[in-house]
Amino acid sequence: MAPRIATIGPRKVHVEIYETAADVADAAAATIADLAKPSGERASVMLAGGTTPKIAYERLAKLPVDFARIDFYFGDERAVPPDHADSNYRMARSALFDPAHVGNARVRRMAGELADLESAARDYEALLPKRVDLLLLGMGEDGHTASLFPGSSAIGETSRLVLPVIGPKPPPKRLTITPPVIERAALVLVLATGASKADALTRALQGPWDPSAVPIQLASGPDAESGARARFLLDRDAAAKLVVN
Ligand code: 6PG
Repeated sequence: MAPRIATIGPRKVHVEIYETAADVADAAAATIADLAKPSGERASVMLAGGTTPKIAYERLAKLPVDFARIDFYFGDERAVPPDHADSNYRMARSALFDPAHVGNARVRRMAGELADLESAARDYEALLPKRVDLLLLGMGEDGHTASLFPGSSAIGETSRLVLPVIGPKPPPKRLTITPPVIERAALVLVLATGASKADALTRALQGPWDPSAVPIQLASGPDAESGARARFLLDRDAAAKLVVN
């Protein structure tokens, strides 16, 4: 079924409200698949961690996509080895890279296993493209995104692109992209599903601009103009508390 599409709140953010989480996943997968065009440069896609995007990766793996046309990056990683149950890379590998036979050369993972996370962050920022074509973001119930948590000093970062951080969500040690990476992305897709995300979405979309309290606001930025780069893909439960005209 077609989503309900609306612009919401003082910053006129674009939202698409789907019936189910599976519909959200299909919409995200189709958007990523569309980037893998046979001509032109390879597209860059930065993946989100957590649990919400897993089904989108599984759906994407089943689409007829030439995965040689996409370079995959990560927006955050936990400080664990790549085969650890908490690894965002491991999740993407089992849901997408392995089933779709995405070659290792097309995947840039963050080295969360290194003891020196500062140099892991510097190494990762050195290999990022100037801007990513598509940035996928999840959102926590506290409004965090990637591993930018409310109150974190990383939210004020203007020059570094990747930083080591300590967050409240286990495991606490993480690597994360910073606001400049989000601001430069050509397209940001935010995936949020389930009733537990409804309050944070209301604060994000209809509350005042305050990304240090609600970091997911960085996805669409401070005004309607910056918001043009973002699409929030929501299911009915996540969108339940939004005022949609
Ligand atoms: C992570 C994330 C994080 C995640 C949200 C939502 O590695 O933890 O990238 O920002 O996207 O916490 O997580 P869920 O999808 O599991 O609710």
